[in-house]
Amino acid sequence: MSESYIQKLFADRIGGEKFGKDTTIYKFEKIKRAKRAAIDANPEMEMIDMGVGEPDWMADPSVVETLAKEAAKPENRWYTDNGLPEFKEAAVKYMADIFGITGLDASTQVNHSIGSKPALAMMPSGFINPGDVTLMTVPGYPVMGTHTEFLGGEAYNMPLKKENGFLPNLDEVPLEVLSRAKLLCLNYPNNPTGAIATTTFYDKVVRFAKDNNLVVIQDAAYAALVYGAEPTSFLKVDGALDVGVEIHSLSKAYNMTGWRLAFVVGNPLIVSAFANVKDNNDSGQFAAIQKAGIKALETPAITKRTVAKYERRLKLMVDMLRGAGFDAEMPGGTFYLYLPSPKGIKDGERFVTGEEASQFLIKEKLISTVPWDNVGNFLRFSATFEAKDEQEETCVLSMMGQRLKEVNFEF
Ligand SMILES: Cc1ncc(COP(=O)(O)O)c(C=O)c1O
Repeated sequence: MSESYIQKLFADRIGGEKFGKDTTIYKFEKIKRAKRAAIDANPEMEMIDMGVGEPDWMADPSVVETLAKEAAKPENRWYTDNGLPEFKEAAVKYMADIFGITGLDASTQVNHSIGSKPALAMMPSGFINPGDVTLMTVPGYPVMGTHTEFLGGEAYNMPLKKENGFLPNLDEVPLEVLSRAKLLCLNYPNNPTGAIATTTFYDKVVRFAKDNNLVVIQDAAYAALVYGAEPTSFLKVDGALDVGVEIHSLSKAYNMTGWRLAFVVGNPLIVSAFANVKDNNDSGQFAAIQKAGIKALETPAITKRTVAKYERRLKLMVDMLRGAGFDAEMPGGTFYLYLPSPKGIKDGERFVTGEEASQFLIKEKLISTVPWDNVGNFLRFSATFEAKDEQEETCVLSMMGQRLKEVNFEF
């Protein structure tokens, strides 16, 4: 068949005429393929999946019930545009109850979003002209950088290093880049490193933003999932409301990934730019989902139970991984452990990258992780693996420990 003229019409931002012809196999596809091959080759062995970035639990029954009830009401069938006022009010109350931030105005300082991913994707449209820069952190969730580039802007990557507590060194951004920068994208608690931000760092961010005329977008997708400390918010820091917003999501805190519900909160000018762009992109999340979201936000016990589960699992994972020689430490937040990947096997195979170590673990030990090779070589283990109760959790983890100990890793 001759090539369709459509092939010549693709925009440069997705590869132009070469779109769809790139034969590079990307990280997540490599993992998927390796998993399939390993399962086929070892039908008697169970795959232990530590690669998943989504909660294993479903949403709380009380939230599901609210959805069912509200979905049946005719008044909930309309477009919701920029969101229900009562969802905004619930978000304001949540910010006060969980993070101690009072005095937010629901009508000007909050806007809902169909998940935090679209909010991150839309934010550059409110600020980025060609040539403008978004400061991003790597490793990280790249969505805001990608959309900055889609608009003809540039993403500048700041490395997250272990020796800095996985916080970016803002002083290292070159002045030329800084002079063109408009957005600073942060994500704490951080995926994939599990790091949490300190108040000192956030104070510095506010000063840095004011000194350099930057808008701060703090992606708080994991804000409620912290261990051994109270959840914190960037907006709690003096001056934060002058420079930024936070994006909160119900995906991880309330086990509602597929439901798609989040909110942007903070500086009214940034919220209004977001609301404008969003209004030109979608017509709002289903009212019944927003009403179920209110039920979730009003029930912090759901998050408490979820946090207790991840904390228990992460502690067991740390012990098990340390037992197998990994340099594992309890993270400050999220449900991830981010560890230096093994360099090889004593008197055996070498792993030049985390990806090679991850492929080995999938193929030889049926343990799936996510490798990160942007800044050093690391593996991410997620506490969202499938296990229906504590007994099953212990079982999965002792099986994994056994499999890891059979290998004499070198670090
Ligand atoms: C750092 C980070 N931000 C945002 C998201 C997107 O979450 P949501 O489900 O709210 O779109 C994720 C999802 O994995 C994430 O890891």
